[in-house]
Amino acid sequence: MTDQKEVLLRVEDLCQYFGPTKAVDHVSFDIKKGEVFGLVGESGCGKTTTGRSIIKIYNITSGNIYFKGQRICAGTRSYREAIRAARKELKGCSDEKRKEELNKIIADNKAEIQKAKYDHKYSDREYSERLIRETHEKFKEMQAHTGSPEEAARIAKEYKDAIRVAKKTKLITKIQMIYQDPIASLDPRMTVREIISEGLAIRGIKDKEYIDNKVFEMLEMVGLVREHAGRYPHEFSGGQRQRIGIARAIIMEPELLIADEPISALDVSIQAQVINLLNELRERLGLTILFIAHDLSVVKYFSDRIGVMYYGNMVELAETEELFAHPMHPYTRSLLSAIPLPDPRSEKKRVRIIYNPIAEHDYSTDKPTLREILPGHFVRCNDAEEAKYKKEFGI
Ligand SMILES: Nc1ncnc2c1ncn2[C@@H]1O[C@H](COP(=O)(O)OP(=O)(O)O)[C@@H](O)[C@H]1O
Ligand SMILES: [Mg+2]
Repeated sequence: MTDQKEVLLRVEDLCQYFGPTKAVDHVSFDIKKGEVFGLVGESGCGKTTTGRSIIKIYNITSGNIYFKGQRICAGTRSYREAIRAARKELKGCSDEKRKEELNKIIADNKAEIQKAKYDHKYSDREYSERLIRETHEKFKEMQAHTGSPEEAARIAKEYKDAIRVAKKTKLITKIQMIYQDPIASLDPRMTVREIISEGLAIRGIKDKEYIDNKVFEMLEMVGLVREHAGRYPHEFSGGQRQRIGIARAIIMEPELLIADEPISALDVSIQAQVINLLNELRERLGLTILFIAHDLSVVKYFSDRIGVMYYGNMVELAETEELFAHPMHPYTRSLLSAIPLPDPRSEKKRVRIIYNPIAEHDYSTDKPTLREILPGHFVRCNDAEEAKYKKEFGI
């Protein structure tokens, strides 16, 4: 069961606002190690912004993002709002006990802001220090039980190597992203070798032979050949360029790959090839994937769980089979109704459902939140809708 698996990424109450645009608004989900999590929704609903928030492109507005148990992003707006509210109340307050409480709220939230800023800035260093401590503990234990001098020497060497790796580890490079547009995302003035090895150079690796071999290995892994290394992006087809983008990501040995509509810009005939490649790499490299798409048909066969977004909100989240068997939110139902059916007779009868939020929901007083209606199946709804869904599914 996926439930038992380690959580690799946790997105907690993520908000990313651009002025008045709430691109992502209180979105929460987690991705377990080895899982493919599909994030689906129409253009402009906040999928890319979610992905870019995870790789720390932004100072997120509020919420937290944890990767491998380390907080890598933290927004401060909610803390600042709490301070502002407390200060306002403090002004007219004469009750000494309440004043004390309010001052404590202010101090606590100030401390949270400091912690958030620290984690955002130093998450790589913190993680590296944690690895060093863990390595040290592990080897101390091993050294305490060594027998022969040879064994002790071997362990001492292993220890030195493990510490060196721990010191160099940059947590954020373990998350890599591949992009929708394989033309815009590759620098036309760089050779394929330079593009693929750029991340290694940034990590301070200079050994030319090592780099060349790594590039060749990556090219072969994504179904290209080593002769391609000296060429430029314009010499390749769309599908091949996407393979170059994938090679550039996996050379960093990521644990989490964010694939942002990786096949939307490709011809239908080559879309399946790229999906197959990602599936193969997932198995081979033990990757965890956040797969972003604008429709459900692409993610259906590829994802273990799916999250559906609408206008910055997560509206439904469930295991793939469960979502297809029991779609609850009207927006999910409309997305499902857009998928062509393989059987021509059913396809003829397929009715397209149009989602109209104003007609569907009355959120004037009874406000919606994301709620667990069936085990692991979450839907954004208010009290009235929750009761309706539960009745419909006999819960
Ligand atoms: N850097 C930015 N500045 C201002 N608005 C942005 C920025 N990036 C995205 N947006 C807006 O945020 C919303 C979500 O965009 P995006 O995450 O790209 O959606 P999707 O990937 O689902 O198509 C859109 O309204 C978009 O215009
Ligand atoms: Mg996008």
